[in-house]
Amino acid sequence: MTELLAPTPHDIDRAASLLRAGQLVAFPTETVYGLGGDATSDLAVARIFDAKGRPRFNPLIVHLPSLAAAETYAVFNPAARALAAAFWPGPLTLVLPLKEPSRLSPLVTAGLDTVAIRIPAHPVAQALLAAFGGPLAAPSANPSGRVSPTRAFHVTDGLAGRIAAVIDGGPCAVGVESTIVALDPAPAILRPGGLPVEALEAALGKPVLVGGNAARPTSPGQLASHYAPSASLRLNAETARQGEVLVGFGAVKGDLTLSATGDPVEAAAALFHTLREADLRAGPHGQIAFAPVPETGLGRAINDRLRRAAAPRGV
Ligand code: TXA
Ligand code: MG
Repeated sequence: MTELLAPTPHDIDRAASLLRAGQLVAFPTETVYGLGGDATSDLAVARIFDAKGRPRFNPLIVHLPSLAAAETYAVFNPAARALAAAFWPGPLTLVLPLKEPSRLSPLVTAGLDTVAIRIPAHPVAQALLAAFGGPLAAPSANPSGRVSPTRAFHVTDGLAGRIAAVIDGGPCAVGVESTIVALDPAPAILRPGGLPVEALEAALGKPVLVGGNAARPTSPGQLASHYAPSASLRLNAETARQGEVLVGFGAVKGDLTLSATGDPVEAAAALFHTLREADLRAGPHGQIAFAPVPETGLGRAINDRLRRAAAPRGV
């Protein structure tokens, strides 16, 4: 059985004691729900991979309460510190050299000499980190390859019975996962996400590579097919074809819409919930069409997720 917990001090203490016992607890962050486990415990981290059916070569993000806590696990250069000061807590993950010797389970980093760190802003995530008092490994709380959760019931839809508990903190405000930035040493975006590229470039005062570089082209987890609904997807649709459920944006009215006003921030927050809703409406072997979303601001993260959701399966 998976316990449904409330975002109260009592239930957060319950969640922290489950985590201390090596159990898994899903919790809200401002991006998506995370599947938390003790990042120092091989057993807890192995349980995360098992619960999600996640390939072991795909490393996890370590969640911490503060930059000070992060500095005990990773090496920060001046550019990393500048980004941390500008955007933490928030939807930014930094990939940094691992500080050795490390208390982290080697499963978390999948044997790499770097570690991905995020300081979430969500008050429930912060309260859980404070109550637990250690680093939490937390991938998105969905079966591997499926749509990420932005509501507590999305988590139980995919993982009920496979995890100890989920804390219901309501809908996630940002709605797409964090932006992942590597600094090796020039900043490169490994995954577009909830922090727009434009904001990063403004903070650094220079352009940022999108897609990594030759030495580290991408995150191991950036598989072509991901976020897959059951239905098939067609992108950049202005109108619905016969039998399709059309998801609109701005001027393109749909059966559903990401944002009637064409606001990419609202669209990001609605993305995964709407994808699930369209999938339900389309039914078995159904078809979903998505209206075009401009490739700026959060639109970049939205289009990245939609392209993966539309990619041929089984990759
Ligand atoms: O918003 C988010 O980032 C959410 C919430 C829960 O914090 N988490 C999340 O985790 O999206 P996950 O596991 O679904 O995605 C983590 C990504 C994967 O693509 C993984 O390959 C990459 O981070 N990653 C982790 N460690 C890495 C490293 N050392 N180097 C490069 N990529 C890394
Ligand atoms: Mg994920």
